[in-house]
Amino acid sequence: MGSGQKVAVFGAYGHTGRFVVAELRERGLLPVLSGRDADKLKALAQEAGLDARPASVEHPASLDRALAGAAAVINCAGPFATTAAPVIEAALRAGIPYLDVAAEIEANIDTFAHFADRARGAGALIVPAMAFFGGFGDLLATAAMDDWTAADEAHIAYGLSSWHPTAGTRTAGAVSRQRRGGRRILYTKGRLELRHDAPPTLEWPFPEPMGPRPVIGEFTMAEAVTVPSHLSIPEVRTYMTVEAARDIAAPDTPAPAAVDERGRSAQTFLVDVVVRSGADERRAVARGQDIYAVTAPLVVEAVDRILTGRTHASGVASAGEIFDAPDFLRALSPHITLELRP
Ligand SMILES: NC(=O)c1ccc[n+]([C@@H]2O[C@H](COP(=O)([O-])OP(=O)(O)OC[C@H]3O[C@@H](n4cnc5c(N)ncnc54)[C@H](OP(=O)(O)O)[C@@H]3O)[C@@H](O)[C@H]2O)c1
Repeated sequence: MGSGQKVAVFGAYGHTGRFVVAELRERGLLPVLSGRDADKLKALAQEAGLDARPASVEHPASLDRALAGAAAVINCAGPFATTAAPVIEAALRAGIPYLDVAAEIEANIDTFAHFADRARGAGALIVPAMAFFGGFGDLLATAAMDDWTAADEAHIAYGLSSWHPTAGTRTAGAVSRQRRGGRRILYTKGRLELRHDAPPTLEWPFPEPMGPRPVIGEFTMAEAVTVPSHLSIPEVRTYMTVEAARDIAAPDTPAPAAVDERGRSAQTFLVDVVVRSGADERRAVARGQDIYAVTAPLVVEAVDRILTGRTHASGVASAGEIFDAPDFLRALSPHITLELRP
């Protein structure tokens, strides 16, 4: 890589945006910093020696200025219920690919629903949820499928050691809860269902050394949108370690704190994905550190592949559909360690 192409980052001074900016620079791309707060943006621009272009979703012309000359845009500013559509519109006007890191299920559904036809018609590429939740689980499920074209079930179990949420994560959760009227969401029988009952607590057999752990079942995340968008799997189930689920539910859990020179927190993750067809099972397992930090190599690897033509689709598409999933996942080393077990 190292093409020096400009990539606009909307929400550049947020926690995730900063990781994305650093990753773009590390890989020889030129971040164009954008966001709504001119002061925060200026401070980051001075620190990084980069170009800053304040923009607001209420002012399309400001977004056009932010995206001018960029080869792609990455939207890291949530809630995406507010930011995704205006930034996608600007990307379509500029004729450049759009990627975001939205974990909000409803916002991701909206992106597919509102932009699929227009993006396909324009030959544009829009990639929602190109992040730890959404894109990563989809890549793992797609890699685990290997040559299967359909499966009965996909199980995505998140073994997070803890989950210290950012302000953006808390806001995203609140927006999604409000949009679904306090109900929870489940992907079953080939569609999304809203439920009033409590989710189950059960034990998930994570691979050693983690081993079996209590998890909240039906802890539905963005994979309920990304996986069924291109894989024929009628049941998609997500699980979360109870410690992490407790952290994210508690109002006083602190924000993530850096423990290394990359700014990563001490949080570790293991993502265990099992796809099942009849009595046969296939598995993909990934391990790493800090779900916010790892979102940067995920979305920047995606940008790199898009800018170098290594894609299978256009329109609105999930990571597993656009990219060669096993090859993509292997390219994330050393940020993740990967085991594919056919
Ligand atoms: N799918 C995943 O795995 C994944 C991973 C990482 C992050 N995310 C999502 O990404 C989002 C950001 O997370 P974060 O950790 O970076 O949180 P953060 O540090 O709180 O940053 C949030 C950013 O969004 C900006 N923002 C909020 N509302 C905006 C609006 N209306 N217009 C423009 N900018 C706005 C904020 O700017 P101000 O400071 O000006 O408010 C800030 O730059 C969240 O929605 C989070 O759920 C998802």
